[in-house]
Amino acid sequence: MNQIISSTHTVSAVPGERSHMFLRVPGIVGTTLGIAMVVTATLTFADVTSPAEVVVDNLRIENSLSGSPGDAAEGRKTFADRSLGNCLACHANSDLSDQLFHGDVGPSLNGVAERWKPEQLRTIVVNAKDVFTDRTIMPGFYSLDVGENVREDLVGKTILTAQQVEDVVAYLITLKGS
Ligand code: HEC
Repeated sequence: MNQIISSTHTVSAVPGERSHMFLRVPGIVGTTLGIAMVVTATLTFADVTSPAEVVVDNLRIENSLSGSPGDAAEGRKTFADRSLGNCLACHANSDLSDQLFHGDVGPSLNGVAERWKPEQLRTIVVNAKDVFTDRTIMPGFYSLDVGENVREDLVGKTILTAQQVEDVVAYLITLKGS
């Protein structure tokens, strides 16, 4: 990603010459504008860390994957949503006692913010294998390392987006005490 950005900076340095080109070679101007549009698109997503770029250091992922802070209220919804986090399938959580069917395959998440630091919670949600080894059955929610026999339309996709991970982490941080 950094490489793309730095090479695009070189491109955006060109506009100084653009008017000059415009007078002489319209074809090149078209190309230059085309490149400029790609640059804009790249910069818009520049803050999002792709699954392949995630760096886990000492069980921690230090920075927001989306480049923005998480929203705990959104995270609470994602946590409970059976088609997104579906965390309740495996984890009990008293904060969501209004929801039915809490699973008990994983530990209760009551007070989880007192057991793990935010940067560690991020790692657990991104790819639990990085914390609990390959033997965990908890899915990696922001990992492309999801094993074999993945449904064809899901290959190359993560279960949650970068922002949804941040929202869930922001929510987990609110789970203190029992
Ligand atoms: C298929 C079951 C499953 C699902 C779904 C699941 N987990 Fe887990 N999770 C586990 C298991 C099992 C563990 C315990 C680690 C181990 O031994 O593998 C765990 C551990 C954790 C821990 C550490 C808990 C502690 O007290 O140490 C956190 C935090 C966590 N999960 C969050 C989540 C969140 C958030 C979601 C939804 C986005 C989720 N999990 C979805 C099975 C699951």
